[in-house]
Amino acid sequence: MNEESRRKIIIDTDPAMGTKGGDPEDCFAIMLAMNSPELEILGITTVQGNVPVERGFSNASYLVKELNQSIPVHTGRPGTFDKERNKKREWLGQREQMEQLTPIRPLEDDDKGAPLFIVETCKENSKEIELVTIGPLTNIAQALEIDPELSKHVNKITMMGGAATVQGNVTPAAEFNIWADPESAANVFKSGIPIRMVPLDVCHKTRFGREQLNTIKENEHPFCQFVQESVDPWLKINPNKNIEDQGLHLYDSLAMALSLFPDLAEYKDAYVTVETKGEFTDGETVCEFNESIMGQIFKPQPNAEIALDIDVNGFNKIFEERVLNFLLNL
Ligand code: RIB
Ligand code: CA
Repeated sequence: MNEESRRKIIIDTDPAMGTKGGDPEDCFAIMLAMNSPELEILGITTVQGNVPVERGFSNASYLVKELNQSIPVHTGRPGTFDKERNKKREWLGQREQMEQLTPIRPLEDDDKGAPLFIVETCKENSKEIELVTIGPLTNIAQALEIDPELSKHVNKITMMGGAATVQGNVTPAAEFNIWADPESAANVFKSGIPIRMVPLDVCHKTRFGREQLNTIKENEHPFCQFVQESVDPWLKINPNKNIEDQGLHLYDSLAMALSLFPDLAEYKDAYVTVETKGEFTDGETVCEFNESIMGQIFKPQPNAEIALDIDVNGFNKIFEERVLNFLLNL
């Protein structure tokens, strides 16, 4: 594939592979992108979420270095978009007790910062860039605050986030990426940028299990041993109670795969709003398909296409070819 026909993306992520006890799955999604000749990754930006932002910055930088890539990594800052919200989510920036496997890269290493990098790169490549967001949306909301015109320059957002017709995973109402910073998510849905939303509804159809990790472990390459050491504690925590045995959902890898091959899913348009004032429902993604009574009367203009079904075998094949085989052949 020649340079010019590659699609340009920026990956916004909260990668925990490298921090024991964090959800390591973002890094599989990043590897999927790195091993996709159809894509040109213009940058990786890190955000507070699965791990405090300094650890995510360190883990992404380590991944890029160990896999011999020359992709710029920029980081967001600790905290959420809204100061009041930050009081409730402050603990996301703490969790000092987690054992760190990758060398800590201080935030001061990055003068520019993620939001400004996003603004500048999207404007330099106007209408060409897709943001693939696989963490909370703080950096994107801050980028929109720096330059409200940004929405005109972004081609699309493919977002792992939300729950459309199923319960949430962090609370019954909310999915983690939206719940971690609901005000940011609300602003992004209001921004006018075309959004492809990849919610729990479809992510729950994916699985990475102990048997796959064992295969990776058989490769003595230091990077495979690092993957094993990072993923093992999360499988033991086994937070996805809806998965048989120990396993994790490939939420972020699915979003990356749908950025690459949108036809792997079936979509329905919806007008999505985010609950920011709920006592029990903060971070809920309220999806109006214009089928409710009010939806039929007022017909709000859709702001997202929502993946509601996927070709599971098609996704598994891509994951196997571009992530598992890549690791097994290191
Ligand atoms: O709810 C799923 C999301 O939060 C994913 O992006 C995953 O990284 C997680 O922890
Ligand atoms: Ca993530």
